[in-house]
Amino acid sequence: MADTKKLFIKTYGCQMNVYDSERMAEAMGGAGYETTQTPEDADMILLNTCHIREKAAEKVYSELGRMKALKTDKPDLKIGVAGCVAQAEGQEIMKRQPAVDLVVGPQAYHRLPEMEELIRKGKRALDTDFPEEDKFEKLKSRPKAKRAPAAFLTVQEGCDKFCAFCVVPYTRGAEVSRPVDRVITEARDLVERGVREITLLGQNVNAYHGEGKNGKAWSLADLIWELDKVEGLERIRFTTSHPNDMQDDLIAAHGECKKLMPYLHLPVQSGSDKILKRMNRSHTAESYIRLIERIRGARPDLLLSGDFIVGFPEETEEDFQATLDLIKEVKYGQAYSFKYSTRPGTPAAERPLVDEAEASDRLQRLQALLTQQQRDIQDAMVGREVSVLLERDGRQEGQMVGKSEYLHSVHLDAVGHKIGDIVKVKIVESKVNSLTGALI
Ligand code: SAH
Ligand code: SF4
Ligand code: F3S
Repeated sequence: MADTKKLFIKTYGCQMNVYDSERMAEAMGGAGYETTQTPEDADMILLNTCHIREKAAEKVYSELGRMKALKTDKPDLKIGVAGCVAQAEGQEIMKRQPAVDLVVGPQAYHRLPEMEELIRKGKRALDTDFPEEDKFEKLKSRPKAKRAPAAFLTVQEGCDKFCAFCVVPYTRGAEVSRPVDRVITEARDLVERGVREITLLGQNVNAYHGEGKNGKAWSLADLIWELDKVEGLERIRFTTSHPNDMQDDLIAAHGECKKLMPYLHLPVQSGSDKILKRMNRSHTAESYIRLIERIRGARPDLLLSGDFIVGFPEETEEDFQATLDLIKEVKYGQAYSFKYSTRPGTPAAERPLVDEAEASDRLQRLQALLTQQQRDIQDAMVGREVSVLLERDGRQEGQMVGKSEYLHSVHLDAVGHKIGDIVKVKIVESKVNSLTGALI
């Protein structure tokens, strides 16, 4: 039997990269690799990178500097760069870091095993094509290994929205949806392997329009209803969504589909119409607020999550105040906020920047408000009954940790239960980043 080689993958960025890293590990499994958690043991290192903000992209080069040192002791070690930095700066990576053997863009992962063969022969390999074939079909997982109870499943990739600040349409390409039957087959496979909750992924997942069973394009809601029929699958989530693609059938599903969890990540970015326009978001603060009202009308206990950018070019204090006002009106249970980062090649990169110190100050004020809202919503869970999907053992004997339907982490004494069980719990305490519950 040939020696198994070891693969170390480090993943940056969004959940789609997490999903892709799993698929790459499985593809390389077929080429005789098993994964390791320690880079020092590895025969091959893959960095699955993110290009969304400058800091994220720069991290890759410093990490590559560190990884390169490992080659001194292990000349046969191969180093590869995957993901969105690979897509955006593939040639430059090859130039800046000679220790890199391989660069592979997000749409070419299925070609990894061939590329590995090539670099074993001492060549360097770069593939940042957007090929016609479906990479996910080529990446179909072979081993039927048991899985953790919550899994990601990419159903849509790429983005056609071209927000003025964002690199995703360039790094991931045009919006493509996977056909319904392939998604369902993969979901069934996950369930057979122990999965009870699936989060459907896409950069713009609610714009999903995959080929349905009747040959017509199905919406995300159609797909969710089809998944609802999969026995053994108990929970469905999806992320990330764009306000303009929240269609009526999807809103209705939030009220009617029992398996669809009451949590929605719906980024708004800003509360100022002037800034929204310049961001090319094609919605207003008002239309977003009305939309939230409609969704909450269908599912009143929905926990809402959002993304915000402060310091977008030419954002004034007044614009920023409008964002704070929107947040106060909507009330978020979870949020991600960022200082604007200039991305070369995007339209916003041409616009005059907000003073750095001013932007930092705004970010601080924004985060203070968001943190307070998160706290209030989490604290209000005390006394309520929730269902918890047990995901792992806790630190103490008999203790387990899982997620409520609202995606809060819940710690509880769960003697007699096992990972993958869904239990009814009463929340008894709200801590900094989690809740404590008691079995009912
Ligand atoms: N497709 C998703 C997520 C895109 S990236 C969506 O449309 O919501 C995740 C978040 O990163 C964005 O929502 C945005 O808030 C932030 N982001 C993207 N580009 C950025 C930039 N240039 N500077 C700062 N934050 C950015
Ligand atoms: Fe980027 Fe906008 Fe597309 Fe989201 S919708 S991925 S922010 S371009
Ligand atoms: Fe980053 Fe690419 Fe995801 S830029 S956020 S890894 S789509």
